[in-house]
Amino acid sequence: VDRQAFQNDLQSWYMENHRDLPWRQTKDPYRVWVSEIMLQQTRVDTVIPYYENFMKKFPTMEVLAEAPEDEVLKAWEGLGYYSRVRNLQEAVQEVVANYKAEVPKDRKVFRKLKGVGPYTSGAVISIAFDQEEPAVDGNVMRVFSRICNIDEDIGKEKTKQLFEQVQAQFLEGAKPSIFNQAIMELGALICTPKSPGCLLCPVQNHCLARAEGKEEDLPVKSKK
Ligand code: ADE
Repeated sequence: VDRQAFQNDLQSWYMENHRDLPWRQTKDPYRVWVSEIMLQQTRVDTVIPYYENFMKKFPTMEVLAEAPEDEVLKAWEGLGYYSRVRNLQEAVQEVVANYKAEVPKDRKVFRKLKGVGPYTSGAVISIAFDQEEPAVDGNVMRVFSRICNIDEDIGKEKTKQLFEQVQAQFLEGAKPSIFNQAIMELGALICTPKSPGCLLCPVQNHCLARAEGKEEDLPVKSKK
């Protein structure tokens, strides 16, 4: 794969075609963080009104840190997985108390906070701080498994690490914030689980699975 051509084709497509989602109006790392936590187990359409309400109620980390827990939980009501928001508030309290209310720019430091895993830290740091950090979730594994024709089982932890390396290589010399969001967008709009829209895909000419007609067979996921 010609990395530079791939980046250009993907990033240009994103600039012209991405959805105008509320968390894309900002580079505030706190806002990006909240959006990524909400989006981890919840669909975009469901998240939008919750995100907007949450940001109205808790516009800064200081406000969220000071808010009574029951108010915070109430703003999350209906989203489920309530440990997400309990962890978020605890992590934000730590950022306010120990990091001068600034989200740590160092991935390893950010990762130490409650509820911040490899995906969240990579997503926030690449999107908000424009650093070349992979952010691998199921969608990203699907997209790269097809582009690179990788048939490793995406249910395995080791495979996730492989895709972190793959994404890190693709990121070299890219615009990290745009590139990572473009991969997410490609997975959401074109490179979907069933019947991927290869004819509309901006990187169809770079895709190894497509070249072999294997796009529908990837990714490989063992049944548990
Ligand atoms: N899924 C995970 N992160 C996302 C984002 N930033 N935009 C859209 N969908 C997402």
